[in-house]
Amino acid sequence: MTDTEQRPPVVAIDGPSGSGKGTIARLLAEQLGYSLLDSGALYRLTALAALEREADLSDEATLTEIAANLDIRFELHNGDTAAILEGQDVSRDIRMERVSMAASKVAAMPGVRAALLQRQRDFRQSPGLVADGRDMGTTVFPDAPVKVFLTASAEERARRRFEQLREKGVSVSLRDLLEDIRARDARDMNREASPLAPAEDAVELDSTGVDIDGVLQQVMGLVRERIGTG
Ligand code: DC
Repeated sequence: MTDTEQRPPVVAIDGPSGSGKGTIARLLAEQLGYSLLDSGALYRLTALAALEREADLSDEATLTEIAANLDIRFELHNGDTAAILEGQDVSRDIRMERVSMAASKVAAMPGVRAALLQRQRDFRQSPGLVADGRDMGTTVFPDAPVKVFLTASAEERARRRFEQLREKGVSVSLRDLLEDIRARDARDMNREASPLAPAEDAVELDSTGVDIDGVLQQVMGLVRERIGTG
């Protein structure tokens, strides 16, 4: 057996925002009893730390330094993961729109990505890990036995976001959301450092018009086939 085969298995779930990968990753981790890595939260935490320090968001050296020295941990609170930055629960703050925008900028910097790489790999613990992101299957865990690239049409993703915000009492225009999603997709796919793209050996699943349970069953099927559990 090679060194790679002895490492705990990783289920890599990549895809654009709104594809449902966060929900799928959480449910999978629960069902399998695996750890969960929400890699986007690391970029969001870096962005929040930079905003709080009023750092220049275009200064890669400063941002890299912030990413390398982040004092963060994740804690499970009643089934939800809380993100703790310097001792403060910032789970809500990192979801704010200005943090999302800053995270997308920060995530395009190769220095920041390199600084966060080992931190992400450290989540790989027995009995296994479900990793949610954009480059889990391509860069962070290229040897993951299960790689899924989850997509949905931009229109469907905008509609899902619209419903989520409406439930929270936030009123936005569907058209603005669609434009935001298209702009973010373009930035994520066209950046040089780890662009959003399926790994060569990823299974592409389209969740447009499919309910969460349907997608979950398909991914569980892959886990049974490739890892032998689930
Ligand atoms: O998935 P999310 O919306 O929480 O991600 C926040 C930002 O980080 C988003 O702009 C995409 C980026 N990201 C990334 O570049 N690589 C990852 N593995 C995860 C997120």
